Amino acid sequence: MSQAEPAFVGEGRRFQRVCDILALHQHDPARLIPVLQAVQHEYRYLPAEVMAYVATALHLPPAHVYGVATFYSHFALVPKGKYVVRLCDGTACHVKRSEPILQALRQKLRVSAAKPTTPDLMFTVETVSCLGACGLAPVMLVNDTVHGQVTPEAALKIVDDLLTKEELP
Ligand code: FES
Repeated sequence: MSQAEPAFVGEGRRFQRVCDILALHQHDPARLIPVLQAVQHEYRYLPAEVMAYVATALHLPPAHVYGVATFYSHFALVPKGKYVVRLCDGTACHVKRSEPILQALRQKLRVSAAKPTTPDLMFTVETVSCLGACGLAPVMLVNDTVHGQVTPEAALKIVDDLLTKEELP
């Protein structure tokens, strides 16, 4: 939403996008999971008001939609950062010392396991189990980009580069 727009314009657009997603899935309640996936892709999490809207549009009890959203760990109910950093903590990556990378990232971004997202919603740091690229251990994923054989220094450089990119006009 641009600075000059009244809030309701942004809200209208927000629900317009949800309407588009629902239409794409023919308002089929059996397509709830793909609908939620598309909503999350759009907003980077599942806002409560959007879940309520989806429930109404699909004629499903809100508790059912909420139950599905909380059952699957890949759905997020709180906002995530623009850059979601997922550090693998599977066995191969752990053995190759993923822990110091995690500590370096958390220290730099001042986040923790309990508060994984920076207040400016720029970064979220998470750990995940095996990313399926053990030959590249330790592995870090930033949104959809895979970084292999990462060191703490390399991880911090990746974050610095993203911060620099964000500061560019
Ligand atoms: S254990 Fe990290 S990619 Fe497999």
